[in-house]
Amino acid sequence: MTTNRVFLLEKRPDPDITDETLRLEERPVPEPADGEVLVRNTWLSLDPTNRSWMNAQATYLPPIPLGHVMRGITAGRVVASRFEGLEEGALVSGMGGFADYAALPGKSLTRIPDGVDPRAALSVLGHIGLTAYFGLLDVGRPKEGDTVLVSAAAGATGSLVGQIAKLHGCRVVGTAGSDEKCAWLTDELGFDAAINYRKTPDLTRAVREACPKRVDVFFDNVGGAILDAALASLAMRGRVVVCGGISQYNAKKVAGPSNYLALVVARGRMEGFVVLDYLPRANEALAALVPWLQRGELKSRYHVVEGLENAASALQLLFEGGNQGKLLVAIES
Ligand SMILES: NC(=O)c1ccc[n+]([C@@H]2O[C@H](COP(=O)([O-])OP(=O)(O)OC[C@H]3O[C@@H](n4cnc5c(N)ncnc54)[C@H](OP(=O)(O)O)[C@@H]3O)[C@@H](O)[C@H]2O)c1
Repeated sequence: MTTNRVFLLEKRPDPDITDETLRLEERPVPEPADGEVLVRNTWLSLDPTNRSWMNAQATYLPPIPLGHVMRGITAGRVVASRFEGLEEGALVSGMGGFADYAALPGKSLTRIPDGVDPRAALSVLGHIGLTAYFGLLDVGRPKEGDTVLVSAAAGATGSLVGQIAKLHGCRVVGTAGSDEKCAWLTDELGFDAAINYRKTPDLTRAVREACPKRVDVFFDNVGGAILDAALASLAMRGRVVVCGGISQYNAKKVAGPSNYLALVVARGRMEGFVVLDYLPRANEALAALVPWLQRGELKSRYHVVEGLENAASALQLLFEGGNQGKLLVAIES
């Protein structure tokens, strides 16, 4: 291929992503500079945080300037190298963006070890696995016998959090947006209970019934009504792990928890975290995740959308609950 298809951030969402947000353009394939490699992106990870990167305000990363290539986490193959540590043919993951090709500093890339599925490198053995592992264990600090509640539990992160909590002897309850997802959690992943929040008229009551000993750790991916319901059932010294708040990412005004005073009564703790801070400790997580995966104790599923050209529309799946598992775009067929 001699041309490079790239998605540019054309218009900031206000607040929803529309057809005008990203624009596909053809450019020449870039030349790697000294210290860079040219990567043929093969897989693109679609993440809820892509939406926050589109905003004009900085998050934990600077905003993407309008007209620039949309930032995205990718796996791919080195096709030309001007960096000593990575040879042509090496499989790597990094910030390749919504593009066929990217010229990237060799230092910014992670080599995918031989035999590792690149899809796993973008999920359970990549940023998603580290998020679940450190968010639950470092921030949530579950103890054996604790009740752990997870929102967006059938998603990429939530499904791993629940399984890791089970491996630590916890009672695990998840919330998800369909009966099929709830059945997957209880029948395949070993969750003790699952709540279909879309069918539940009274979430506070549903959480209370599913967590009769109250909630020791709430791993929150969603925010909004589920956060309030969880706070209402917080156990003494309960921990709320703020991993994300996808229900608020498209909101013009973020709705805060109205039940936050439950933290006073429970002497509780609510703490956010960003997985980037844990990258220096990645090997610690992988030392646990790899054997769990090899022994079949951690299961995950991939939701694959074919073709880079479909990446922009596929992003919507995350906000509609249309993804069943880690959402990925297969760029190279
Ligand atoms: N802190 C960090 O460093 C870090 C790192 C990675 C990810 N995250 C966060 O982790 C969360 C999950 O990310 P992921 O990549 O694993 O995505 P995911 O869970 O695979 O997909 C997102 C899911 O969120 C649910 N959802 C969407 N809108 C919702 C709403 N309004 N109310 C309730 N549920 C809703 C949908 O599932 P249902 O069908 O169940 O509705 C959807 O499938 C996000 O909040 C993300 O920002 C944080």
